[in-house]
Amino acid sequence: MIMILMGPPGAGKGTQAKRLMDKYGYVQLSTGDMLRAEIAAGSDLGKKAEAIISAGNLVSDDIMVGMIAKRLDAPDASKGVILDGFPRTVPQAEALDRMLSDKGRKINIAIELKVEADELIKRILNRAKESGNARADDNEETLRKRLDVYKSQTAPILPYYKGKGLLTQVDGMADMDTVTNQIEAALN
Ligand code: AP5
Ligand code: MG
Repeated sequence: MIMILMGPPGAGKGTQAKRLMDKYGYVQLSTGDMLRAEIAAGSDLGKKAEAIISAGNLVSDDIMVGMIAKRLDAPDASKGVILDGFPRTVPQAEALDRMLSDKGRKINIAIELKVEADELIKRILNRAKESGNARADDNEETLRKRLDVYKSQTAPILPYYKGKGLLTQVDGMADMDTVTNQIEAALN
């Protein structure tokens, strides 16, 4: 099972991925978490990614595709995978298709969590306030840039998956349990 969780910053991708992971034993592959781990480890990649993420821009497709390819080959990814934050551009989506077809696997479903901009800003600023160690990109200025980047570079993937009959839209404005129920209903 391969599920793609899409949606703008603060839509609830990470929240829902963790719930599905706990309930069904799927593995959550969050490219944002992977990049933050590289930054924390002080790796060359982390050093390169840090400024890009803090500015709200996207890390290059080559790097991201390589990162996911490696992770999909790990034994824990042989069962169920939830892609959280990848793909984020049409070239990433195309690379994922090639990668999966080489492995004889396919995407089962792409879920779009739909949330209004005002709510996204409220959620992210609240997360920054409540976290003792806020993400470098969780401030209003960077968040606005992330929202622009989502619209211009990531949203074009939605018609890509719609055209393949894989896209399901979910009301991400609802409370967390309702969102989980909607995703589970789409899966069945
Ligand atoms: P990434 O880490 O993926 O960040 P993002 O897409 O901006 O999304 P967030 O993690 O902020 O939000 P989320 O949707 O996971 O929401 P969450 O569940 O936390 O990427 C960060 C950066 O890394 C990118 O900007 C880019 O630079 C780089 N990057 C990553 N992947 C890349 C790629 N493939 N290519 C290139 N660059 C890449 O929820 C948010 C808050 O809301 C939480 O506090 C939560 O408790 C709350 N909440 C969740 N659901 C609800 C609900 N239903 N009701 C009320 N509150 C809710
Ligand atoms: Mg997240």
